[in-house]
Amino acid sequence: MAIDGRYAPTRPITCDKGPQASQQAIDFVQCSYLGLDSHPLVVAGAIEAIEVQRSSHWSCARKHLISNLLEQLEETLSEMFCVRAILSSSLLLANLGAIRILASGRLTGGRKPIVVFDCLLHGSLVCYKSIVADETRVETIGHNDIGALERLCRENPAVVYVCDDIYSQRGHSLLTELRQLQERYGLFLHISDAHGVSIFGRQGEGLARSQFPEMLGDRTCIAASLAEGFGASGGLLMLGTSAHEALFRQFSTIEGFSEAPNLAAVGAALGSCTIHRSEELGERQRRLAQRIRLFDDRLATAEQGNSLPIRTITVGEEADAIGAARRLLDSGFCTSVKIVPTLEGGTAGIRVAISSEHQATDIERLCNGILDAVVETTGKPYPLR
Ligand SMILES: Cc1ncc(COP(=O)(O)O)c(C=O)c1O
Repeated sequence: MAIDGRYAPTRPITCDKGPQASQQAIDFVQCSYLGLDSHPLVVAGAIEAIEVQRSSHWSCARKHLISNLLEQLEETLSEMFCVRAILSSSLLLANLGAIRILASGRLTGGRKPIVVFDCLLHGSLVCYKSIVADETRVETIGHNDIGALERLCRENPAVVYVCDDIYSQRGHSLLTELRQLQERYGLFLHISDAHGVSIFGRQGEGLARSQFPEMLGDRTCIAASLAEGFGASGGLLMLGTSAHEALFRQFSTIEGFSEAPNLAAVGAALGSCTIHRSEELGERQRRLAQRIRLFDDRLATAEQGNSLPIRTITVGEEADAIGAARRLLDSGFCTSVKIVPTLEGGTAGIRVAISSEHQATDIERLCNGILDAVVETTGKPYPLR
């Protein structure tokens, strides 16, 4: 289905094809949790960057030439999040750049580590297992299985753990326990934070970064997305030392072989930094928290009570989940369907991404719509029993 993406503050979108053509729906799919993607400063930043440089992007790998705006953005983010920041055009690439260096042993004292993956990692990280396996031993453990990870730490001199901060499928990493393993065994943590940046932390540094001390140190690397809560586009590596920064600039794949984020993305991110440094960020974060609570007051989900903006309404069979989402679209709500293989059979559901820009009445009407759609498609009231 194609969607015409013109925004107003309540996040309506218009379907331009199929049976829903020209119908408006409220967007609960995109992950712009603070509505910054359509903020005037972000939009103006994107336009200004292109106008100032009279170009849409720099068409070469950044080791050859780098725009001063990109340098300015890296410096600004380094300062804001108290890290050494390296940008790439997507989170997928930021992770690739880090993972190859991690597997080489250069970040674990020259000793090749075993690299441990959580079994629920996002697909964009799972695809790197074979690349890592070419270099060193790979292990996959159960979701958040701290016991298994500790055993591996005890048995091996160098261990790297690769995890998502917030999992698309369910839950979040146990960062307190992971930090304890880091202190006890020197575990190296590579954390991918797609969904937590901007919505958590005083300056929007994200769920992961906000749980580490002021200096990130030499045992942690965080890869973050600037495309979701941040409202711009691209990936951001947060490194804890300038030695790591120098290493990444010399050896990472993104630095040497891939194009930098385009100028609109860079300008949009600079605009978003201005908002991150103002009181408006906190206002939007608080409004988001209030909207999430409103949803939770109306509907029980496995995520109820946590402060993440993603909720999954379990519907059961795939066909029922698709049917319920279709009914919701007919009633003016655009949601997404989560189906196997992401979840186990019979637990397909509807995924909802909440934004600070949704009106309270949007959330209330969505919840009523979900209750009606589930009963109409399954014949049973929600939650299914
Ligand atoms: C959890 C998670 N990790 C990684 C990615 C990939 O990010 P990018 O599109 O910037 O490569 C996404 C994209 O939605 C995501 O949700």
